[in-house]
Amino acid sequence: KRQRTFAMVKPDAVHRLGEVIDVIQSRNFEVSQMKMVQLTRAQAGLFYREHEGRPFFEPLLDYVTSGPVVAMELITTNAVQRWRETLGPTDAELARREAPDTIRAKFGKDKQSNAAHGSDSDVAATREIEFFFPSSKVHDIMVPQ
Ligand code: CMP
Repeated sequence: KRQRTFAMVKPDAVHRLGEVIDVIQSRNFEVSQMKMVQLTRAQAGLFYREHEGRPFFEPLLDYVTSGPVVAMELITTNAVQRWRETLGPTDAELARREAPDTIRAKFGKDKQSNAAHGSDSDVAATREIEFFFPSSKVHDIMVPQ
């Protein structure tokens, strides 16, 4: 089935955005929304709130706010699973050993600085797309405040 997922090129890989998009297009994902943004620490904390309390949480916020990120909505058949396969394992060093033809193997450094993010489920995809690309409602335009 045709499905949406959320992809985020993280600060360490934005300097290779063209190469990341080449991979995305060669795997037949449609880029349906895209923007570059500098996240505040509060926004990063909300985006990654499921990881609050983990030992890597504060360093993760430092990392993901260290420069701009590029957020994308990707569409294809089975997009959530296919984007996770295209990314490879979270740990870029493991990816280089076990899945060398993946984005994290090619553009990531280690288990934190891993080049890009992908939604882990359909529910997460909907939440993450709405986080970066809130749907504009006629109501918001028509009613002040
Ligand atoms: P991402 O797919 O964006 O989801 C959560 C992020 O936390 C992950 O990529 C990594 O950047 C980071 N992360 C996950 N696990 C670890 C870990 N064990 N040590 C450091 N960073 C991690």
